[in-house]
Amino acid sequence: MSEEQTLAVEVSAVEQITPLIKHFTLSPVGGGNLPAFSGGSHIVVVMRGDARDGEARRGDGRRGSTRVHRNPYSLLSSPHRLDAYEIGVRRMEESRGGSHFMHDQVEVGTRLEIAHPVNLFALDKIARKHVLIAGGIGITPFLAQLEDLHPGRVPYELHYTVRSPEHAAFLPRLREREGERVRMYYDSEGHAIDYDGLLSNQPLGTHVYVCGPAGLITHVAEKARRWGWPDSHVHWEQFSAPPVGDPFDVFLARSNLHVHVPPDQSLMESIEAAGVEVPYLCRGGVCGFCQTQVLAVEGEIVHNDHFLSDSERAKYIMPCVSRARCKSLVLDL
Ligand code: FES
Repeated sequence: MSEEQTLAVEVSAVEQITPLIKHFTLSPVGGGNLPAFSGGSHIVVVMRGDARDGEARRGDGRRGSTRVHRNPYSLLSSPHRLDAYEIGVRRMEESRGGSHFMHDQVEVGTRLEIAHPVNLFALDKIARKHVLIAGGIGITPFLAQLEDLHPGRVPYELHYTVRSPEHAAFLPRLREREGERVRMYYDSEGHAIDYDGLLSNQPLGTHVYVCGPAGLITHVAEKARRWGWPDSHVHWEQFSAPPVGDPFDVFLARSNLHVHVPPDQSLMESIEAAGVEVPYLCRGGVCGFCQTQVLAVEGEIVHNDHFLSDSERAKYIMPCVSRARCKSLVLDL
């Protein structure tokens, strides 16, 4: 994906809807419609912050510096309404800067670039029933999917778990449409989803979808496996924001480039700042597009993706989310 393929949008509304989540509406610059998408799609928002510490050094010692974040966000608006996209952004405490940029620097009138929508979390078209499980900000892709599910004939249920009532983002919108079909669970009230009850008692052909924190996804996936659900019927989406970590240096063998990766910049962002493009779709460790061969490493790769198998992890890295704790790292880029 290259910058030529991005779309220019302007922020037309911003609303703080929970203590941690802001709701942004993005309209096309110059009016008209944005590209069509289906429920479960995400976009990547390009954020150009201060160029303060992206560092790259060519083999010849030349330096370049750019500070760009590209974060994926699920589209929560109706796929039937294309005059604007809506996203929800949670302020991450351990942020490399992307969510802070959206919260602190983006306001009505701000212009942003976004990548075309991509769907890695689509509803299964032949499912006999859909069970949707959302944790916190993980509600966003379901908001778009419900637009299709609501008027359809396939039964569905939505289970939405949050810390406390004040953290229940978009609940009024959900209630207005879905009424009591939205089942709420508040940690603060000690109310948890009965996963065994939920997953042991569904009609054949049911698909389960889970979006939210890693712990929730792992828990649901393990429970589903224990109750004999085929993997093909269990869907999840977690865009792990690239974690912060120790700084390290990488050598890109084909480009003959030394790149420094600071603690709060991802490996992919650092490589891009050096002028080398890495293919991507999700930037969240799930699609596999950025898979890169490790030619040599003196130290340890810190794998944070949900894509590579254990055996592949010896040879490859997903630079969108993974890092290294190493003296040296050489990549086939
Ligand atoms: S871009 Fe999707 S796994 Fe890296």
